[in-house]
Amino acid sequence: MRVLIGCEFSGTVRDAFRAAGHEALSCDLLETEAPGPHYQGDVSDVLDYPWDLAVFHPPCTDLAVSGARHFEAKRQDGRQQAAVSFVMHLARSAIPRIAIENPISVLSRLWRKPDQIIQPWQFGHGETKATCLWLKGLPLLQPTHVVEGRQARIHHMPPSPERWKLRSRTYPGIAEAMAAQWGSVSA
Ligand SMILES: C[S@@+](CC[C@H](N)C(=O)[O-])C[C@H]1O[C@@H](n2cnc3c(N)ncnc32)[C@H](O)[C@@H]1O
Repeated sequence: MRVLIGCEFSGTVRDAFRAAGHEALSCDLLETEAPGPHYQGDVSDVLDYPWDLAVFHPPCTDLAVSGARHFEAKRQDGRQQAAVSFVMHLARSAIPRIAIENPISVLSRLWRKPDQIIQPWQFGHGETKATCLWLKGLPLLQPTHVVEGRQARIHHMPPSPERWKLRSRTYPGIAEAMAAQWGSVSA
């Protein structure tokens, strides 16, 4: 399959699909952290290529309910409207199979409820981080390895310039599940 991983600097989901034998490209405004096929630029530039599948990780800074105390200001200057519009733009693309990933956010109210909410502990990582998935043409992601731990590591990270990156990287267990389960979905 031709697979686009939009808004990914880590290369985690891209490399999981590549390891499963797919042609996968990551795309981000940032350079990729891991050497591999990557378009550094706006995801809109590559959206109309004939992809079979896309996984998008759009920015959640202006959407996540964890930042609700700033919502009024973000609605006043249009940041929230722009962030929602960006997600809608991705969702409306012609790519036949799409997964959009975000934390619990205003998307549930302004767009629609997510198809599922997954946790890292369902995929081999003993941590909690509620992750919503909005799906088109794809089945629900099935847990691959439920583990005991329920650490909220992400919430307790100390402030640092790299904190947002550490918090936003996709868990490898989730990336592998996406590649294994969605990479085998037939047309
Ligand atoms: C929440 S992070 C997702 C990180 C991802 N889970 C990973 O493992 O790399 C959102 C990313 O979207 C990127 N981004 C924002 N606007 C973009 C655009 N128009 N085109 C491509 N990437 C964009 C940001 O640079 C940021 O790295």
